[in-house]
Amino acid sequence: MSNLAVFISGNGSNLQAIINRWKKEDTAFDIKLVFCNKDDAYGIRRATKAGIPVKILLHSDFVDRQAYDQKIQEIMLAHQIDLIALAGFMRLLSSWFVEKWAGKILNIHPSLLPAFPGLNAQKQALEHGVRFSGCSVFFVDSGVDTGAIISQAVVPIFLNDSLETLSKRILKKEHLIFPTAINDVALGKVSLCNSKAVFKIKATQTN
Ligand code: GRF
Repeated sequence: MSNLAVFISGNGSNLQAIINRWKKEDTAFDIKLVFCNKDDAYGIRRATKAGIPVKILLHSDFVDRQAYDQKIQEIMLAHQIDLIALAGFMRLLSSWFVEKWAGKILNIHPSLLPAFPGLNAQKQALEHGVRFSGCSVFFVDSGVDTGAIISQAVVPIFLNDSLETLSKRILKKEHLIFPTAINDVALGKVSLCNSKAVFKIKATQTN
């Protein structure tokens, strides 16, 4: 069983999807903590309602990123966290932290990476005029949305799509693939090896 911390900054609909999967199914992860960098994030209410401990750290209370990330590390150790899911966590983590947690931090991004990394991915897709977009779950490395891809889901883009309609369509898929990817990592079905996501596939006997 992996002890999971979910990091959020806002609405927390992905957090909700992870909670729902955890409550409904026999998952290989146990949500031990929700970590948040904003004291007004709606996701805090979702965590509280589900009975999950919440830790809020405001960056304004720290001298720099290193001091902030050191505190996060202390919190992770205190809660015996094994796995971290960034679910709309809108703050960059230092290389120091990310390297310590290599293969143990997952993020979800609303595009088919490597297309449209960074902010406003759905807007970038609409402006580029692509006909399909989607979402990607990946192992976090020290770049921006550059880590090894674990899973992706595709959605069509329609001619009359707005930012809102496209974002909603993508979000629905996020809620499906993110909990599954977290569970697969917790089960050891997929892991990070030489900067790639490697899947354990049972060998099929052919003779
Ligand atoms: C999602 O679109 C996710 O892909 C991105 O941030 C958004 C978070 O949404 N990283 P929510 O807070 O989970 O509703």
